[in-house]
Amino acid sequence: MTSVLIVEPVSSGNELVVRAAAMGWNTVVASFDAEDRTLTAATKDLASTLVQVDTNDVHAIVEAVSRSPVGAGLDGVVAGSEFHVEIAAQVAEKLGLPGLTTTDVALVRNKAKMREALQRAGVRSPRHREVASRAEAELACAALTFPVVVKPVESSSSIHVLKARDTAEAVRAYAAIEADGMIDLGRPLGDEVVIEEYVSGDEYSADGYVWRGEVRIAAVTRKLLGPEPTFVELGHITPAPLGPNDLGAIERYVGQVVRAVGLENSVFHCEMRLSANGPVLMEIAARLPGDQIVHLVADATGVSMADAALLMAVGANPETCLDEHAAFGGAAGIRFVDPGSITAYTRIEGWDDVPRYADVVERKVLVPAGEQIPSTYEALRRVAYIRYRASDPDTALAVNERLGRELRPVAAYLS
Ligand SMILES: Nc1ncnc2c1ncn2[C@@H]1O[C@H](COP(=O)(O)OP(=O)(O)O)[C@@H](O)[C@H]1O
Ligand SMILES: [Mg+2]
Repeated sequence: MTSVLIVEPVSSGNELVVRAAAMGWNTVVASFDAEDRTLTAATKDLASTLVQVDTNDVHAIVEAVSRSPVGAGLDGVVAGSEFHVEIAAQVAEKLGLPGLTTTDVALVRNKAKMREALQRAGVRSPRHREVASRAEAELACAALTFPVVVKPVESSSSIHVLKARDTAEAVRAYAAIEADGMIDLGRPLGDEVVIEEYVSGDEYSADGYVWRGEVRIAAVTRKLLGPEPTFVELGHITPAPLGPNDLGAIERYVGQVVRAVGLENSVFHCEMRLSANGPVLMEIAARLPGDQIVHLVADATGVSMADAALLMAVGANPETCLDEHAAFGGAAGIRFVDPGSITAYTRIEGWDDVPRYADVVERKVLVPAGEQIPSTYEALRRVAYIRYRASDPDTALAVNERLGRELRPVAAYLS
């Protein structure tokens, strides 16, 4: 029987557990299983073996796994979260297992290194500077053209990512990162920041895999964002409504990016904006997408990116994941309900009408009525989401925009 170790499943990482169990694999889950690294009940149920360990400590994981019932019988290791991609690669190397290598992940976990790799390879990328102090932030601004975007080198979910129109705004954004003592999945935010020139254009992400250097894309997804200067993700549509020329340009560009960052064997989630000059990278990650895009890809194309990730973790060719479902058709989308500036709500206006115009797959309330909505830097300020199917990408986009217009949380005033 195939045995796989899934390190700290969060968000789409839980889909790895679902799929490994569905394939009848011996599914070993390593987790800190406390604080914001607490496993879901479903994941605990599905796992064959749970290994409780500090998942930010490679040595501890290797020790704990060796002592667990699976012992030396593992066939592969896969990360269940962005923050554990590097750790999973280190564990795989220590245990002599296939899958992502530490060389593979060196350039994708750090947004400054990512930009440098693109520059070296001559792949289109905005000018950037890496900074680690306010003085450096000021110097960086003098060398770049405004507007710029300020972002931590290793974070996610657009946390602390801010557009700045001048040096004062950029330095303020830097200072906010430096001052934030946030611990996310057991890791501090740090004070290393990249400041880069702002790229305008609609945003897309490509999910696929590279196997022995050959790049395959399962789907391109359109990303819908809230108002700047922040970049809150409000919705996604898979596949993106795109003509063949733009799609071709995106596919070629993603190939260049994957080669530039040196990914050889991995799934990837590549985010980019389609500028007037063509696609421009926001970031690329060696993992499954978040925001349930893994479900959108499966609903719209029949491709399980989780299966691809699992197969590659144990050194198997993931090709079957794409080929079996090539002619699936259809589209899927997700819309998050954004509370704007309110701190609590009594009800979501328009909620009951949704099934009349959307083919709902899942509707979920994340922050119940009457509860305090977390602040921007504590968590994503999402109160609910609706995941749906549609006949085609244009319809999926129209439904997404309608959900955005019609779903309105009504403010409550907590005493
Ligand atoms: N150079 C840029 N130009 C325009 N928008 C940007 C730029 N960099 C980041 N963004 C916006 O901020 C979002 C989050 O940035 P990203 O690099 O993807 O970091 P995170 O890891 O937080 O997702 C992007 O999806 C994009 O909308
Ligand atoms: Mg991103």
